[in-house]
Amino acid sequence: METILHVEDLRKSYNGLTVLDLDALSIPRGQITVVMGPNGAGKTTLIRILALLEEPDRGTILLGGQPVPEDEEQRLALRRRMGVIWQRPALFAMSVADNLGLALRLRGWNRKQIRAKVEEYAEMFNLGRLLRKWPNELSGGETQKVSVARSLIYEPEIMFIDEPDTYLDLRNRHLVEEMVASQVERRGMTALMVTHSRQQMSRLAANLVFLQAGQVRWSGQVDSQDPKNWDEELKALLGLAEPSA
Ligand SMILES: Nc1ncnc2c1ncn2[C@@H]1O[C@H](COP(=O)(O)OP(=O)(O)O)[C@@H](O)[C@H]1O
Ligand SMILES: [Mg+2]
Repeated sequence: METILHVEDLRKSYNGLTVLDLDALSIPRGQITVVMGPNGAGKTTLIRILALLEEPDRGTILLGGQPVPEDEEQRLALRRRMGVIWQRPALFAMSVADNLGLALRLRGWNRKQIRAKVEEYAEMFNLGRLLRKWPNELSGGETQKVSVARSLIYEPEIMFIDEPDTYLDLRNRHLVEEMVASQVERRGMTALMVTHSRQQMSRLAANLVFLQAGQVRWSGQVDSQDPKNWDEELKALLGLAEPSA
């Protein structure tokens, strides 16, 4: 299994308090890695650091085996190969088609290329009849769908998703999952998703990282269909341990 992201000796503190202290962590390429752990465990901080939106106090980050450069311009080039889906979707005040095309425009695509890609993704995610609409004409679910499509359309190598379940109803939660999973299947995208939901983890995870108090308590491949075979430590962390007789 190929590693896309590897961190070593990573440390981050705020106001003198260590919130992340990882010896080593590897994220496999082309899979969905789910990150779980209690509130305040450092999940969002880890995502922000891996997505190169925040600098750790110290540590090494390897992306595709190469150290992430310190130069801001080079970091920006790497960030353009990454996508982030935050808890609250926000669209720009422009048509859905323009929202979808924006990231491509920023990446220097020409009009014809943009139109073709927007059409391809509108078809893939069933957004065709929304293309001429503006954000204020969309339902919550449609807004979600467009915002996820907007993050996927430039085909990032890695997608970071922070607790998409906290504001979504079940139907839209499944929708986001399906959109992300389809990109993993179709073109080998890597996804790193924080969730509190064990059900969501079971539906999606090939790999699992459990954080607690800023440290990795468990990390590895999971057969999400078959929790019976999970090791006892993982079951205990997830609150699935058999009550002792
Ligand atoms: N910008 C910040 N300034 C100060 N403290 C922060 C900041 N971001 C996060 N923290 C603290 O770091 C710890 C980990 O936060 P976070 O990564 O958001 O945890 P999680 O996402 O697992 O709930 C928490 O104690 C939080 O209060
Ligand atoms: Mg968080």
